Amino acid sequence: MFQRLPDAGDTTLSITVDGKPVTARAGDSVAATLLAAGIDHCRTTPVSGAPRAPYCMMGVCFECLMVIDGVGNRQGCLVPVRDGMAVEIQHGKRELAR
Ligand code: FES
Repeated sequence: MFQRLPDAGDTTLSITVDGKPVTARAGDSVAATLLAAGIDHCRTTPVSGAPRAPYCMMGVCFECLMVIDGVGNRQGCLVPVRDGMAVEIQHGKRELAR
């Protein structure tokens, strides 16, 4: 579905998504990393459980909420990926960490 530009950077990072290893590129957002890895959703809705995927990629739609390093409701499109990051698909409503 998505294809990288030929001149995209080549610094690779390693993260986990639901415990599975995923290769990321330095400079990408977490949402872009999931889409590039072929992961088709990053959260499910609290009411019906329908899967939702990043949409606007600029912090407006909130469809990209996910759990990043144990903190829920993070907008994956606004968080730069970094090596060793632990990402989880967010299922339903998630309370903010205290
Ligand atoms: S994709 Fe729309 S806010 Fe992140």
